[in-house]
Amino acid sequence: MNQSYPQAIDVALQDHAVSLWNHGGLVAFPTETVYGLGADARNGEAVAAIFTAKDRPRFNPLIVHVATPEISRRYVQWSPLAEALAAAFLPGPLTLVLPKRPDSEIHDLVSAGGATLGIRIPAHPIAQQLLRAFDGPIAAPSANRSGRISPTTAAHVQAELGDRIPLIIDGGPCQVGLESTVVDCSGESLTVLRSGAITREMLARVAGPVADAPASAGEGAALLSPGQLASHYAPEKPLRLNATSLTPGEALLAFGPNVPQGAVHIINLSATGDLIEAAANLFAALRALDASPATAIAAMSIPQTGIGEAINDRLSRASAPR
Ligand code: TXA
Ligand code: MG
Repeated sequence: MNQSYPQAIDVALQDHAVSLWNHGGLVAFPTETVYGLGADARNGEAVAAIFTAKDRPRFNPLIVHVATPEISRRYVQWSPLAEALAAAFLPGPLTLVLPKRPDSEIHDLVSAGGATLGIRIPAHPIAQQLLRAFDGPIAAPSANRSGRISPTTAAHVQAELGDRIPLIIDGGPCQVGLESTVVDCSGESLTVLRSGAITREMLARVAGPVADAPASAGEGAALLSPGQLASHYAPEKPLRLNATSLTPGEALLAFGPNVPQGAVHIINLSATGDLIEAAANLFAALRALDASPATAIAAMSIPQTGIGEAINDRLSRASAPR
């Protein structure tokens, strides 16, 4: 990413967004992971409007976004483990699942009736600006229609939801490009519910042993973190993994310098084999290949190290039968 993008929005636009939130409206906004579709988490009708705009099944809990850990203390009970993780990684691409406070004003639709809340403190300067100005809890799933790939540019949001929501704030392409790491720290040990840019290795350095991501543990995963349904991140074309050669009509999602020949269309996630660059490019590449004349998409294998685990998680969901 050579271009530079705005680090702030002007006050008139900020006030417009905050006013929409104060009146139960929806605003799509950039974060460092993916674009979010935000509404006031205390307003049941506003939260219901998120589900309607996304065509999203209601049983998925939503993440609550706030500007600072201090603000989140109004809504959840922090643990020593959560404090340590926050000191190391927040603001940033990490969501903490914590016990909901009994006096929390968060609407039950946000937690899907459960006793916990996912709290996220995004680092993106425009997300920070908006959340500070709002000074409250914003429930925000990724700003895509349910079952589709998460948006990493304002143009993606426009294509998915432009006719359904009043405001999309453009903050340029998302730097991380994959949804936040979600960890359950409501108990004494840590469980990764969704892999992301804050990797298992990074978490273990702060929190000690990390339980296996239920994403790879089958059925139980869907119960712990309902957004983790197998085919959650789906392009429309069939996606084949670990390709080493191409069959006629296939587009190639490549990685690294040694690329098989014969694709009708090719996008290399990182020609130098850089996993962080690959993560940032993944969703835009899947969208572009999905829109290409190819009949199917073949993806080269990605190393299962660091953020590679999160890339492979999204790719295996995108290739799951549906
Ligand atoms: O990076 C992100 O996290 C983005 C940006 C917009 O912040 N948001 C996002 O939201 O990806 P969404 O709704 O698409 O995914 C939220 C994930 C789902 O897998 C959901 O099940 C899980 O977080 N989740 C949320 N609250 C939870 C809770 N209380 N307990 C367990 N899982 C929870
Ligand atoms: Mg999503």
